[in-house]
Amino acid sequence: MSNLKSVLILIGSPKGKKSASNNFALYLEDKFQEKDIETEKAYLVEHQKPERLRELVKKASTPDLLIIVAPLYIDSIPAITINFMEECYKSKDDPHEQKLMALFNSGFPEPNHNDLAIKMCKNFASKMDMEWMGGITIGMGAAFESISLTDAGGMARNLRKGLDAAVESLSQNKKMPSEAVLTASKPLLPLFLSKFFMCYFGERLWKRKVKDKAVRKKMHYRPYKVQ
Ligand SMILES: Cc1cc2nc3c(=O)[nH]c(=O)nc-3n(C[C@H](O)[C@H](O)[C@H](O)COP(=O)(O)O)c2cc1C
Repeated sequence: MSNLKSVLILIGSPKGKKSASNNFALYLEDKFQEKDIETEKAYLVEHQKPERLRELVKKASTPDLLIIVAPLYIDSIPAITINFMEECYKSKDDPHEQKLMALFNSGFPEPNHNDLAIKMCKNFASKMDMEWMGGITIGMGAAFESISLTDAGGMARNLRKGLDAAVESLSQNKKMPSEAVLTASKPLLPLFLSKFFMCYFGERLWKRKVKDKAVRKKMHYRPYKVQ
């Protein structure tokens, strides 16, 4: 089986370079480049104007493998990413060999919140006559907003292990093995712990955001509470 030659990683987070998606993309980029595979990244947020979007859609039709890396927004795919997918579909040309993989991250700790977004990408691959290489789901993705996967230590151990195995297969033009997908998609922490942290730190974060004491008082009002 021949080796993969080129990869384009599309970062679908509206936060662009300051996103967790970017940190996942950087890790994948490094791993493909280590294997001498020509790898580029593109930020969808920088390609929203029609002209720029058309350019990117054209560019996205050439690499052997396209990777969509995006956050989960309202149990779905962010609008800028959907827009890109729709534009690709509208300008679909003669079928040619191309592969698609996706990686989604969500705020909630259970990775399976991302399953629907992954299914949508799989459906996109089928409509575009692309070969579907599989999807990876990451819960509590915000943990990687300002830290790279390499610096994240033990928390990202399974994720790195799964992604390494995924890149190994993809670079040989093979689908991601289900074991690699399962390893990469494991919850970062035992769920009882991440739920505790989310409640504890989430509450502190929201309270910090409400700096106005008058507003803070009102937070406890329950005008529609059923007695
Ligand atoms: C508008 C909006 C909608 C979101 N909807 C969900 C959601 O439905 N489920 C979820 O688990 N997280 C949701 N999140 C959280 C993001 O998926 C999460 O913070 C993710 O790590 C952001 O990734 P990014 O830094 O790559 O953009 C939402 C965040 C925003 C801003």
